[in-house]
Amino acid sequence: MRAVVLERHGPPRVLQVSDVPEPVPGAGQVRVRLDAIGVNYAEILSRQGLYGWAPRLPYVLGMEGTGAIDAIGPGVTNRSIGECVIVGTQYGAYAEQVVVPAAQALAAIPGFSVEENAAFGVNWLTAWVALVEMARLRPGDRVLITAAAGGVGTAAVQIAAHFGCGVLAMAGSADKLERVLALGAEKGIDYRQRGFEHRLREAAGPRGVDVVLELVGGDVHRAVWPVLAPFGRVVVAGFASLRLQRWNPLSWWRAWRDIPRADARTLSAGSHGLLATHLGYLLADPPRLTRVWAELTAFVEQHPVRPVIAATFPLVQIAAAHRLLESRQSIGKIVVRP
Ligand SMILES: NC(=O)c1ccc[n+]([C@@H]2O[C@H](COP(=O)([O-])OP(=O)(O)OC[C@H]3O[C@@H](n4cnc5c(N)ncnc54)[C@H](OP(=O)(O)O)[C@@H]3O)[C@@H](O)[C@H]2O)c1
Repeated sequence: MRAVVLERHGPPRVLQVSDVPEPVPGAGQVRVRLDAIGVNYAEILSRQGLYGWAPRLPYVLGMEGTGAIDAIGPGVTNRSIGECVIVGTQYGAYAEQVVVPAAQALAAIPGFSVEENAAFGVNWLTAWVALVEMARLRPGDRVLITAAAGGVGTAAVQIAAHFGCGVLAMAGSADKLERVLALGAEKGIDYRQRGFEHRLREAAGPRGVDVVLELVGGDVHRAVWPVLAPFGRVVVAGFASLRLQRWNPLSWWRAWRDIPRADARTLSAGSHGLLATHLGYLLADPPRLTRVWAELTAFVEQHPVRPVIAATFPLVQIAAAHRLLESRQSIGKIVVRP
């Protein structure tokens, strides 16, 4: 089968499609023939050699996709050939076929297109876990979302808005803010404009915000604390602005400075909470994954929400897909088709 094997870290051109043996499902696993694959920011970091959860080289990149089960390993009794699923995995999805534990092959969403199903798993689970599982979102809460026009961000804006929350969105351009306002955000702040901290305070008003989903780090992260209301929670699910370069000690210092942090004394002074989440823990906990997936998919069935697709590329153009995600021009999710 064809797959993108990461043999060395580097720029997008290191991503090449090659022929590799078909994976064979072992005990408790299923194999899925992928129709579409979701591209994640974590895969940019993996390609650069900066992602802590990545396995050792060489390996097939890719953390999610959608398709039909085409082989079932020993001991799996409750799955059938042809079942349409969404898969989540640590690696292996930039390929025509992927093998995953059966619990990580979740039912595809019937009303979604192939691209929408490929875009759904990682981004919507991340947004849901951060907002609902960790921050315990309630209707009426005021929610601030950073990188709001990205894959996770567009999911989070829709979830929070349809949960009955007032949404403030932050993103890096006027075009992006226009799109997230159309998805249900009430106000938008461009954090690439000078003085954005002041505009954020104005938008948050005297009441402030109850929940922040923070995906950027650095100046953006520092700006959210002054608008956090008492009992407010900041959930960190990413630090897209960090520019860590392996051989540049100044970049290590900047990355250390820009990683979100807070101490208990400061938190207690505002009655605030700082939380952080990583989806890998959900994949490693099948009962929780099953429950969270059921809650998320029930919500999606009951509300007019769906993934936003930024662009679709053929797998041979995977380098172009990575360039687009790194360019900060994409709105929503980038998908590739094998
Ligand atoms: N914790 C988890 O389990 C988990 C799971 C999925 C994703 N994540 C994290 O969530 C974040 C969003 O992921 P995604 O896949 O949905 O990507 P994305 O949001 O579609 O793309 C990344 C966005 O980050 C923003 N950004 C801010 N500063 C940036 C910079 N200096 N360079 C590049 N981009 C910058 C850009 O939006 P603006 O131009 O609007 O700023 C860019 O479009 C990432 O940090 C990712 O690592 C975490």
